Amino acid sequence: PRGGCAFYAKAVLAEAAGVAAILFGNNVSETEALRYTVAGSEPGQYVNIPMLGLSGATTQLLFDLAKATQDTVIATTKTGRPDRAVAIGSHLDSVPFGPGINDNGSGSSFNLELAIQFAAKRVEFANQVRFLFFGAEELGLLGSKAYVQHLQDTNIESLRNISCMLNFDMIASPNFIRGVYNGSSAAPEYGQRVLDGSTVIENLFTDRLEAKKLAHELTDFDGRSDYGPFIANGIPSGGLFTGAEVTKTIEQRNMYGGVPYAAYDPCYHQACDTVENINQKVLAEMADAGAYVAFQLAMAKDLDAL
Ligand code: PHE
Ligand code: ZN
Ligand code: ZN
Ligand code: ZN
Repeated sequence: PRGGCAFYAKAVLAEAAGVAAILFGNNVSETEALRYTVAGSEPGQYVNIPMLGLSGATTQLLFDLAKATQDTVIATTKTGRPDRAVAIGSHLDSVPFGPGINDNGSGSSFNLELAIQFAAKRVEFANQVRFLFFGAEELGLLGSKAYVQHLQDTNIESLRNISCMLNFDMIASPNFIRGVYNGSSAAPEYGQRVLDGSTVIENLFTDRLEAKKLAHELTDFDGRSDYGPFIANGIPSGGLFTGAEVTKTIEQRNMYGGVPYAAYDPCYHQACDTVENINQKVLAEMADAGAYVAFQLAMAKDLDAL
């Protein structure tokens, strides 16, 4: 969770000829962001931050505000229109209680592999692809918020250069569902552009899963991962999700197999979220659908329409 993954991803991407990779210039500093969250707290002071996605008194985390820093890694394809960029996001960090292999080694290893394979492709992309490896998602989407904020601060136009965003956060859950973000379920205040564009992306995912005869369903599009700051700024988004702490229904058991009344990921945010926690088959299926949609969007000549 603390930098090692970012340096590894940066090093791997530096070897890939077709992309340019950087560590996000303004490092995502938990210090800054938490000071913002916890009004009045000072660097060096310990504060309690309720963990995102968990409830209960035991799920609190202590931070030394002075010491914590997390990086976001950005890699961009060398071809494709930079003013029609397709962002592909995953978070690199985990909760401190565990290694975070499904959450979110699964999404980040997919994103890294996608960047390597796109970099090796001898095609001209129509649209630039931006592979974003966010830090500090678990602390309240800090990396993605900082990135979107940075684009806005630099120049509002630079935010408009991102045509859409795909997010991959937990795509190998052991007791999985095959979830596609429900593009039309974003709160209406996000606006018609988000609703329409996200529905187009949702349909690309469901078309691919249907073509592969893989059962799937729509899942919440409530901003509970790094696409949140993007849709909040009018950027159509989509993504895949195989489930976290919610329990499987009988109906979902009939669709996907697995164990009803058990969590999709019984090791969610726990020490047992190790390599053993990964369902390799569903990871490959999600990776296929993710790569397909990413490639369709990267090659689309009419992305303004999103
Ligand atoms: N963002 C959540 C986490 O990292 C996981 C999640 C992803 C939950 C997508 C719901 C939808 O813990
Ligand atoms: Zn998490
Ligand atoms: Zn996550
Ligand atoms: Zn369908």
